[in-house]
Amino acid sequence: MYRIVSAIFLAENIKKFEIEAPMIAKKRKAGQFVIIRIDQNGERIPLTIADSDPEKGTITIIAQGVGKSTRELNCKEAGDSIADVVGPLGTPSHIENFGTAISIGGGVGTAIAYPTAAALKEAGNYVITINGARSKDLVILEDEMKAVSDEAYITTDDGSYGFHGFVTQKLQELIDSGKKIDFVLAIGPIPMMKAVADVTRPYGIKTVVSLNPIMIDGTGMCGGCRVTVGGEIKFGCIDGPEFDAHQVDFKNLADRNRIYQHEEKEANDTFAH
Ligand code: FES
Repeated sequence: MYRIVSAIFLAENIKKFEIEAPMIAKKRKAGQFVIIRIDQNGERIPLTIADSDPEKGTITIIAQGVGKSTRELNCKEAGDSIADVVGPLGTPSHIENFGTAISIGGGVGTAIAYPTAAALKEAGNYVITINGARSKDLVILEDEMKAVSDEAYITTDDGSYGFHGFVTQKLQELIDSGKKIDFVLAIGPIPMMKAVADVTRPYGIKTVVSLNPIMIDGTGMCGGCRVTVGGEIKFGCIDGPEFDAHQVDFKNLADRNRIYQHEEKEANDTFAH
């Protein structure tokens, strides 16, 4: 069993957990994830490792309660335990000194953009972060993102905080300002990642996205996480989760992620908490 050391809501439905997992805390690199099961019969939930403390032996994950399992997870409190935490899984982010790097997080995607932004800063990049949310109360990790940024922007769709508009509009504004941008990382909902890829493509700016296909084993065995990148089939769990945004077939990803929509809705409707 893996003990939850702390559990706090960052925004409505979005909860941050610090979990005792010393081996993973020691080994994990930015961009990697874990698969957790709340109990023996639980669904396997892939979650990116947002942070870790090797001294304390803890990892940090951030979950948005959108379906039965994530809502169940978000009912857990400090002192409770989780049956399984497997990881670190996935290929770590490719980090180098690109020059000027923009890390974009949309919604709970910021939890994934943050560790990579920190690693980009550590590698000597000039780091710009764009932290987008629908409204002010859904902005997460504002201070953490700021701490690893040379320039930090918040965008909200409704204009309740920061720049009024989408992350792509802020990105376009930065490109139009003549700033030389060498690398863009975008993590969030599929339409957002696709929109970022469309903005950077004409400028030839290297752009990476972190994909969220349905996963089961997370080790390349089941094929559930198949994604099409550059016309080839790749496995999100071992070849990714990060891929060249300009090569990703986002429609295929969105279609595959909808396969179990009916079952997911049924399970969610029966969840009573
Ligand atoms: Fe099974 Fe990737 S999750 S192959």
